[in-house]
Formats: sequence, C-alpha cells, structure tokens
Amino acid sequence: MKLLCQTLCLCLCLALSLAAPHHGDPTEHSNDHTKHDGAVIDRCDGTEMDAVAVNEEGIPYFFKDDHLFKGFHGKAELSNESFSELDDHHHLDAAFRMHYEDNPSDHDHMFFFVDHKVFSYYQHKLEDGYPKDISEVFPGIPNHLDAAVECPKPECEEDSVIFFKGDDIYHYNVRTKAVDEKEFKTMPNCTSAFRFMEHYYCFHGHLFSKFDPKTGEVAGKYPKEARDYFMRCSKFGDDHVERERCSRVHLDAITSDNAGNLYAFRGHHFIRKDQGNDTLTSDTVESAFKELHSEVDAVFSYEDHLYMIKDEQIFVYKVGEPHTHLEGFPKPVKEELGIEGPIDAAFTCQDSDIAYIIKGQNVYDVDMKATPRTASNERPLGPFKKVDAAMCGPEGVKVVVGNHFYQFDSPMVMISGRALSKQQRVSLELFGCDH
Ligand SMILES: *[C@@H]1O[C@H](CO)[C@@H](O)[C@H](O)[C@H]1NC(C)=O
Ligand SMILES: *[C@@H]1O[C@H](CO)[C@@H](O)[C@H](O)[C@H]1NC(C)=O
Ligand SMILES: *[C@@H]1O[C@H](CO)[C@@H](O)[C@H](O)[C@H]1NC(C)=O
Repeated sequence: MKLLCQTLCLCLCLALSLAAPHHGDPTEHSNDHTKHDGAVIDRCDGTEMDAVAVNEEGIPYFFKDDHLFKGFHGKAELSNESFSELDDHHHLDAAFRMHYEDNPSDHDHMFFFVDHKVFSYYQHKLEDGYPKDISEVFPGIPNHLDAAVECPKPECEEDSVIFFKGDDIYHYNVRTKAVDEKEFKTMPNCTSAFRFMEHYYCFHGHLFSKFDPKTGEVAGKYPKEARDYFMRCSKFGDDHVERERCSRVHLDAITSDNAGNLYAFRGHHFIRKDQGNDTLTSDTVESAFKELHSEVDAVFSYEDHLYMIKDEQIFVYKVGEPHTHLEGFPKPVKEELGIEGPIDAAFTCQDSDIAYIIKGQNVYDVDMKATPRTASNERPLGPFKKVDAAMCGPEGVKVVVGNHFYQFDSPMVMISGRALSKQQRVSLELFGCDH
C-alpha cells in the first residue's frame, strides 16, 4: 500500500510537472505517438541518447525517450518492458550502475534519474521505497541531471559517482557522501556518460569523447562518432579499417586460414590480417562472401575452406582470391555437422580433424573426417558463461568475449580450466588500435 501510494504520488507529481507538453494537447500527443513502435527511433540516424549504463552483466543499455536499446545493435524496445515504472512520462536524464564490491547492499544496482527523482533497480525490480528524491539519496547533487557514471577505486581516488549537469561536474563519494565539485575544462557538456571496460565515455549528440575520470582530461583525437564505435550501423563511416580495428562492438566470429591469415567478422564487415606483414584490411562481408551477406555466428577453417555458420545454415568457401562458395551450400548445420544451429563459436586447430563447436555453455567435438558427422563429447565450457568467437592458431586458443580475449595453450587447457587467463583487449592486442 505504501509503495502504491508513493508510486501514485510520483506519477501525479510527474504528470503535473510534465503536463504542459504532454497532456490535454491531442496534436502533441499524436505526434509523439508515431515514436511508439520502435522502428521509428533508429540509432543509426545519429540519435542523441538520454542516458547510458551497463546492466548487471555488463551489457550496455542506451535510453532514448520511452525506448531502450540493449547492446550495440538491434531495435529499440519500450523501456517499460524491462523497467515497468519507466513509462511515457519517465524519460531518463541520467543512469549508472553502482559497481563497488565493498558496498554489497547496492552492488550492481542500476540507478535512474528523472527530474528530481531517483529509481534504484536490482535485476529489473524497483527496490522498496523507490523512487526517492535525489537530495535524499545523493545529498548535494542537483535535480535535472544530464549524465551520471560510476567510478570505482582506483579509477577514481575513492569509490565515486560522477554527476554531470551543464558544465558542472560533481564527484560523489559513495562511502562518505562527500561531494567534490570539479571543473573539467576540456570536456564538452555530456548528455550521457558511461563506463565500459574500465574506460569512461562522455556522449554529446552523436559524438563521444573518452575522458580521464579524475581530471576530465580528453587525450587523443576526440570527439569521435558514436555510430563508428558503439553501434553497428551498416552503411556508416568511411574509414572501415580504422573503425573496425578500434571498435568496441564484439566480434561475431574469428578464424585464421591455413596460411595464417586472420579473419575477424563483425556485422557487415570483416577485418583481414595478413600473416607475415600484419597488414590490416577491411571489407564488407557481402563483397567477399556474397551468399552469406552479413552477421555470421561462427567461422572455422578446415583444409583450405572456411566453414561459416549463420543461424541454422552453414556456408563453405574455398579460400582464395576470390573465395568461392561450394556447390550445394548453404546446408542445414544439422546435416553438415550433426548439431542444430545456431551456434556461438567454433574452431579447429592445425593438424587436427576435430572441430570444437561452442553452443551456449557447452562445447562439442565434431570429427571432420567422419561420415556422417556427429557432435559428441558434450561438456561444459571451462570458465566461460558466454563466448562470442574463438579461434585456434600456433599460439593456442583465443576466446573472445565482448571486446576482450583470453589465450589458452590448447583446447584442453581452455575446456578444463577453472579460471580465466589474462584478459587482453581485442582492439589493442589483436588489431593494434592504440586508443
Ligand atoms: C508501456 O508503455 C506503453 C506506452 O508508453 C503502454 O502502451 C504499455 O501498456 C506499457 N506496458 C507496460 C507493460 O506497462
Ligand atoms: C555547457 O553548459 C553550460 C551551463 O552549465 C552552458 O552555459 C554552456 O553554453 C554549455 N556549453 C555548450 C557547448 O553547450
Ligand atoms: C602482405 O602480404 C599479403 C599476402 O601475404 C600481400 O598480398 C600484401 O600485398 C602484403 N602487403 C604489404 C603491404 O606488403
């Protein structure tokens, strides 16, 4: 009853404060209405987001009006499908994920800011007693924020939240609740901000700048185009190589051919790194693998062929210039490998006929010499919950998760492993992107 009352009161309050543009004006409302089917808000149009935060699993959530984009590609959904209290009148000003292990009561809670209220969600459920006034939960922090981002130690001197309003910056100490006002001179006014893979990004319009959370310093060539790095927009950007090597969007698939050339696939593009001279080139999947078109799930190479899996189908290309698609393909994955598609990742190692097929949290062996082929030896996938791509080469197995990869000496070591090996950055260590 108490919660209901608070929710009602809040709704009334917000309804009143937002009454002017939204209520009692049918034309305004019907204009608004065209945005309600999700298709209308296209993030590849250069949409300025209201708020950005990662969820408990590290998946970025981009909020715009009453919509939510999950991850780096795909359509918008209504925010209230995931956070039921976020209705049409609750457009976010700012959002962040509390992420301090020392603070178990709030750890991994998502905080959303709307006008003078703050909402705290844990696993998509509104916490008891919320929404509350910002001044109650974060004393000293103003209403009507522009952006917020968590900043744990040692990235900030103390476990902090950084709040942005206009060109004012507030460092809020989570433990002592002390507020330190800062001036970030070189930084543009952020309309949203987030921490991703231990880096800090300020979004302004469709641009973003990477900044140092302690000083606000922006080092390197910024601002950059958000659609190049944080969204998968098929027809966007001119410098494919620079974009693809530095993108933070996860890879779909990765493999190397017998000659040691590396192929990495992401959305509509792929990168090729030549053995020997390390030259990077990028092209569209469509131009080199026409039948496949784009967005492959997994690729492995075996005996001078690339086996490319997309949904329930497998495409097989003979490696060459140009790559040629084999007669009779695509075929169902089930028919060719003895396992139902879709799968998450696959790889073979040199001098072996076993294709390792990763599907969900399991790995299977497929003996490529057998007829018919079957997927056998199902076992759990070492220390991983989810894998985006994997490959095997002279240095062992590389497993790609998000924009990091992990290296193992052999498939055995990976599968039997309990702990993750050292985390390495795909952009930096695989493709030599220096920023
Ligand atoms: C979500 O909001 C839309 C309008 O913004 C409304 O039509 C719909 O019923 C809401 N869904 C839920 C689950 O509250
Ligand atoms: C940044 O915000 C301040 C208000 O705090 C405003 O005066 C200034 O014009 C803004 N700068 C830009 C570039 O929008
Ligand atoms: C790199 O090697 C590939 C094949 O090995 C060759 O086609 C390409 O021209 C080389 N690039 C440079 C810049 O030497």
